[in-house]
Amino acid sequence: MRIPIIAGNWKMYKNEAEAFELGAELKKRLEDVVSLKIVLCPPFTALFSVKKAIEGSNLFLGAQNMHWEDQGAYTGEISAKMLMSLGCSFVILGHSERRIHFGETNEMTNKKLKKAIEIGLSPILCVGEKLEQRETEKTEEVVEKQLEGAFEGLKEIEAEKVVIAYEPVWAIGTGKTATPKQANEVHRFIREKLGLLYKDEIAEKVNILYGGSVKPENSNELLSEPDIDGALVGGASLKADSFEKIVRSKLS
Ligand code: PGA
Repeated sequence: MRIPIIAGNWKMYKNEAEAFELGAELKKRLEDVVSLKIVLCPPFTALFSVKKAIEGSNLFLGAQNMHWEDQGAYTGEISAKMLMSLGCSFVILGHSERRIHFGETNEMTNKKLKKAIEIGLSPILCVGEKLEQRETEKTEEVVEKQLEGAFEGLKEIEAEKVVIAYEPVWAIGTGKTATPKQANEVHRFIREKLGLLYKDEIAEKVNILYGGSVKPENSNELLSEPDIDGALVGGASLKADSFEKIVRSKLS
């Protein structure tokens, strides 16, 4: 049985005080929700304050990126071990904004994925096509390549620990959302691909989230699709009210 996950990707928003406030508010509003995992991913600088804000609650802490080495001369980087010591349970990897703005490749994502699992963090691996790739019917080809690259060398026991977020790039922060049918089709494709890379039993264990302009107005429909196990929410996770509504739509 897959436990649904709703994760908030706060991106480069919220200073320490604002992040504490939002974390504390969500703790209060969502304390009754125990049937799914709620993950808050603030910027690195606010991880500690959000950890304090949600202490003793059912909410999980996640980071938005990490380096694949444990330590070293990598100015500006943060390791998986450092995230663990701050109380993180999850880490977003290979987000399209990292791929587009910071040159992150499938190889880098693969190294990060392996390290996250070795250290005990649950990786949320992001995959998804750009608009021109969808328009030229390359969605499956692109997603397949991202999956093969990211899972390269991962054993079954590691692969089943990965959470995947299908995030069509054209739907991120644009207000455009994939229709529930479009999203579910890709989710099914991802699960089939995992079945081929490993076996169906492993594929069935992997949570596949949808991301890209998820908001209270569309979350109900998206989250009721059979292959959509949850959501990775950007903009709408920055307000307690909209994030709470999205979480509750997975309960109904
Ligand atoms: P969005 O972002 O909900 O603002 O589109 C989603 C994401 O980038 O994870």
